Amino acid sequence: MSPWLTIGEVARRSGVAASALRFYEERGLITSERAGSGHRRYPRPVLRRIAFIVFAQRIGLTLDEIGAELARLPPERAPTRRDWARLTRSWSARIDRRIAELERLKTGLTECIGCGCLSIQRCRLANPADRAARLGPGPRYWIGDQPAD
Ligand code: FES
Repeated sequence: MSPWLTIGEVARRSGVAASALRFYEERGLITSERAGSGHRRYPRPVLRRIAFIVFAQRIGLTLDEIGAELARLPPERAPTRRDWARLTRSWSARIDRRIAELERLKTGLTECIGCGCLSIQRCRLANPADRAARLGPGPRYWIGDQPAD
């Protein structure tokens, strides 16, 4: 079995489009080498790295955050299962926050979709207990601020 995969093989195995793989590479999240033909070829462990990127995006990490996480992996050797587990340890708190946010969305769906004001003063969906008001005007959580724990 070859230790290298073509971009088509990586796309097929990971379910991530080749264009997205090239984008990840431009962002420095994955790396490839050029074969003699000039085509990209990826080391087999790239699949685990891509799985990490896909899951991280699904739980709401930005590409910059994902890059920072990946930079914590040991550069001198292939990451072990323990290395990957260390990176994802903080994710459960983040997932809990997402669940709470989705619960809030579900609760306020009918009222707020019909209203649309996103008022700091009265919208409990966009600004529960008005805690976000300390961060500045506007729908803080909708524009990217994170709720404090
Ligand atoms: S959008 Fe008006 S109360 Fe939530």
